[in-house]
Amino acid sequence: MICLGIESSCDETGVALIEADAQGVPRLRAQALYSQIDMHRAYGGVVPELASRDHIQRVLPLARQVMLDAQASLRDIDIVAYTQGPGLAGALLVGAGVACALGASLSRPMLGVHHLEGHLLSPFLSADPPAFPFVALLVSGGHTQLMRVDDVGSYALLGETIDDAAGEAFDKSAKLLDLGYPGGPALAELAASGDPLRFDLPRPMLRSGDLNFSFAGLKTAVMVTLRKLGVSPSEQDKADLAASTQAAIVDVLVRKSLTALQSTGLERLVVAGGVGANAMLRGRLNAEGVRRRFKVHYPELALCTDNGAMIALAAAMRWQRNLAGTRFDHDFNVRPRWPLGTA
Ligand code: KG4
Ligand code: ZN
Repeated sequence: MICLGIESSCDETGVALIEADAQGVPRLRAQALYSQIDMHRAYGGVVPELASRDHIQRVLPLARQVMLDAQASLRDIDIVAYTQGPGLAGALLVGAGVACALGASLSRPMLGVHHLEGHLLSPFLSADPPAFPFVALLVSGGHTQLMRVDDVGSYALLGETIDDAAGEAFDKSAKLLDLGYPGGPALAELAASGDPLRFDLPRPMLRSGDLNFSFAGLKTAVMVTLRKLGVSPSEQDKADLAASTQAAIVDVLVRKSLTALQSTGLERLVVAGGVGANAMLRGRLNAEGVRRRFKVHYPELALCTDNGAMIALAAAMRWQRNLAGTRFDHDFNVRPRWPLGTA
């Protein structure tokens, strides 16, 4: 079974072809990705209208490239998948429009996929895929959630952020430190030469007794600390603040993940979404995993941030399990706001 997937929910256009063998094991045949980061950088963040227009320009050339790289023809495609939400409405419409036009012209079913489902299933394409059930820590630019995952389509929310997402905390702190957009990787890089103990930043909701998060206060604390450092903080001051910020975010993510594993009794943790690429987070979780005997699974580094492969994969896994929701009709809609686990 071969599935073409298109991702266009934010600032990356991703197209990929996934093939599942007779045993249902998925394999990535080809993928192509275009990141709009350079275009948005000048504005300090994603400009939705520019994002939509750029997706329009990229999506067909990327799809052609994928078919060429996979040495496949359009007729080989069995289903066409696209990110239906959540995301930017105009950006989502581009992928949805192309996918549904392709599905209609080939008389193939099309499947609207939840972006977060793509993220949380993406480790199934890694060399060491997880088994169900597991706890998923979803940490992206827009979401921070802990979920109990019993199977494809069976997701129970355990906790989530009540304000900023972890990626947003990275991005906003990085902006305060003048590190540009998107700030997560830049802040992590600067943190490598800093002292994480220099500034005592808050660990919001660390002891709240539930599995929810809050990161808005951390951003304020970074702002106040920067102000105290005066008009021109030294490079070392900035590195120390970056390291302290990263340590605060990672501390909370690790602590809450441990609590989620403990309260569910599960022994597998899947970490997905852009912040899952963070080396300190991975190091801390791996060390805890060895100490407390749980296994941590990640997507391949290249599949941590948005991509078409995770969308094709989620659709292929749904298809194999005969899950409802697969459509053959030609109209489409997108769902800019769409909580995972709701119909
Ligand atoms: O999953 P993703 O690509 O997009 C969304 O669905 O939001 O995640 C993007 C987020 C951004 O906030 C980015 O700064 C963050 O992931 N990120 C990182 C790292 N790489 C990406 N944050 C911390 N450390 C990283 N290495
Ligand atoms: Zn994402």
